[in-house]
Amino acid sequence: MEKKIRARIIGTGSYTPPRRMINADFEKIVDTSDEWIVSRTGIRERRIADDDMTTSDMAVQAVQRALEMARCTHEDIDALIVGTVTPDYKVPSTACVIQEKMGMPNAVAFDNLAACAGFLNGLSIARSFIECGVYRKIVVVGVEKLSSITNYKDRNTCVLFGDAAGAAVVAPDDSGAGILSTFMKSAGSLRELLWIPVGGTRNPYSRENALNGSDKLRMSGSDVFKVAVREMCTSALKVVDDAGLERKDIALVVPHQANIRIIDALTKRLGVGSDKVYVNIDMYGNTSSASVPLALDEANRSGRIKPGDHVVMVAFGGGLIWGSALVRW
Ligand code: UT7
Repeated sequence: MEKKIRARIIGTGSYTPPRRMINADFEKIVDTSDEWIVSRTGIRERRIADDDMTTSDMAVQAVQRALEMARCTHEDIDALIVGTVTPDYKVPSTACVIQEKMGMPNAVAFDNLAACAGFLNGLSIARSFIECGVYRKIVVVGVEKLSSITNYKDRNTCVLFGDAAGAAVVAPDDSGAGILSTFMKSAGSLRELLWIPVGGTRNPYSRENALNGSDKLRMSGSDVFKVAVREMCTSALKVVDDAGLERKDIALVVPHQANIRIIDALTKRLGVGSDKVYVNIDMYGNTSSASVPLALDEANRSGRIKPGDHVVMVAFGGGLIWGSALVRW
């Protein structure tokens, strides 16, 4: 019998800028406290890129590390798929900028806009390309310079976000390992729960609306929270079920790091031990599309993931859009 070709992650990489912003730094700019931030979000610090560091600069570092682990050259890459809501430019895509900086002459490069679910959306596209035989070596990236779209006068949002990049190299494999199932879903009717109202064709950018902060991220936190818990749980269970597995088969859950209370609720609903859920929100905050690949790379490099392990990745973000992937490592 012919062996099934699956898309397998053969290398991971990540990058976080060195500059740390701790909770006490926010006490000086908005009415907040370390106690509130830690107890309501689990965040202790986040990384902030310098002004002259762009989204693509961070991505290049993460992609280089992933390529080295995968033992791939830049010429090997057929496709580069980048999830970001903080592109270097409106046009061209950040993927094309990364392609030019790294020199990937044989690749098609494009962005996908799925906010915090951007990496998993890219992974799901890469899986389809590989299973259909369209491309062989694909780099999937999640990268954000969220500090560039954060309103540092709004205590509801500014304490949450950080900058980072994560990447994975995906290639065909017939050994039985690889991506067993993926799931993506969106609800455009809920788009105003997490959005940037100004800067597109609906509400073009102007000096006035820049002054009132509507060109920055806005979020109805508690509404998003409820949908996030519900849909992340449903998404995680769906990929386990679609792969013909059960909850007890999960070795590690790598969730989007938006809020420790969301992660704790997900852990409880999934009925897995907290030792099976990867958490690094305390160090980086919410890095949107970079969150899952950053956590995946840390888990991979620290030996938390062993060959044959079933790893569930799950994310949720502005769109609203959410999704999941189940990988046999
Ligand atoms: O990554 C994409 C998806 N994003 C998410 O999943 C985020 C989901 N939402 C959340 O994580 C939480 O809703 C937040 C962390 C954003 C907020 O936590 P919350 O427990 O839902 O608080 P809340 O929005 O209901 O606000 C409770 C109170 C309010 O004060 P009043 O109106 O009760 O007097 C807020 O003004 O907490 C206040 N508050 C703060 N207080 C001190 C909000 N932000 C702060 C702050 N410091 N930074």
